[in-house]
Order: sequence, then structure tokens, then C-alpha cells
Amino acid sequence: MKKEKYEELLQEVAVLTAGETDEIANMANIAAIIHTKMGFHWTGFYRVLPTPDGGEELVLGPFQGPVACTRIAYGRGVCGTVWKEKRTLIVPDVEQFPGHIACSALSRSEIVIPIVRKGAVVAELDIDSAELNTFDAEDEHYLTVLLTSLGEAGKS
Ligand code: SME
Repeated sequence: MKKEKYEELLQEVAVLTAGETDEIANMANIAAIIHTKMGFHWTGFYRVLPTPDGGEELVLGPFQGPVACTRIAYGRGVCGTVWKEKRTLIVPDVEQFPGHIACSALSRSEIVIPIVRKGAVVAELDIDSAELNTFDAEDEHYLTVLLTSLGEAGKS
């Protein structure tokens, strides 16, 4: 059962991140535990970081799974759209999402959840599945709660 796995995950993540203030360390373990426990195709973080020209970009952070796109611009693909719209997107079929960035040809569905602080997206959790229609409101709920281990998650 997905619900039971997520309930266990929440407890494990709380233990793993307790007392650890380094965000990259926590992202690394959170990506690893979600990925191994839930069996997704790709699980990882993108962080909003400054670019040399004074702008900002999503930059690949800790992840588990096949190699992925390193940088994503504001408004591009699912991740860039989540950044722009500051809300979680569940994509049941990535081929139906205009502008989807195919880091892996095996990805069929996706969920991207923003991590918002002081009204700004600072990072995102991105999970890809090799199956269609993998993610629903239950995934969104548990993953959003889980991300509170990194600070304020979800909508501002
Ligand atoms: N598919 C994402 C890109 C990131 S990868 O899935 C790891 C997108 O369209 O933004």
C-alpha cells in the first residue's frame, strides 16, 4: 500500500534529518530513501541558484537514478513551470505536457513539488516514473509533508 509506505517514509526521514542543518546532506538522504523505498525511475532535487549574468536558474542537486539535465531555465519544462507558477504539478503523461524536458526516454509520468521560502521558490523535488499515471493527490500530500524536513514546502 502506497499510504503505508509513505507513513514509514515520513518517520524514517524525520530520523534521518533530525539535528542535521546542512540542506544538501538532507536532500541527498531524502532522495535516496524515497527512491529506494518507492522504486521510482528518478528522484531528485533542483535548486534555484544565481547565474553569472545576474539571473537565476534551476541547477541539478542531489538525486538518485539516471543522469539528468544539469540546468533548467525559468518557465521551461515541468520544473521551470513549477518555479514560475509556485505550485505542484502532477503530469500523468509527460508526452502530453507541452515543453516537457526529456532527461530520460523512459520517463512516462512526473510530479514536481516546489520548496518555497519567504514567497520564493528555492528548490524543487522532482520525481519521474517509468509508468503512466503514477502520481496523485496522495503522493502530493505525503511528499509535501516530507519536504517540511527541509523547511517550508508547498505553496507560500
Ligand atoms: N522532466 C523535467 C526535467 C527534469 S528530469 O525529469 C530529471 C522537466 O520537464 O522539467
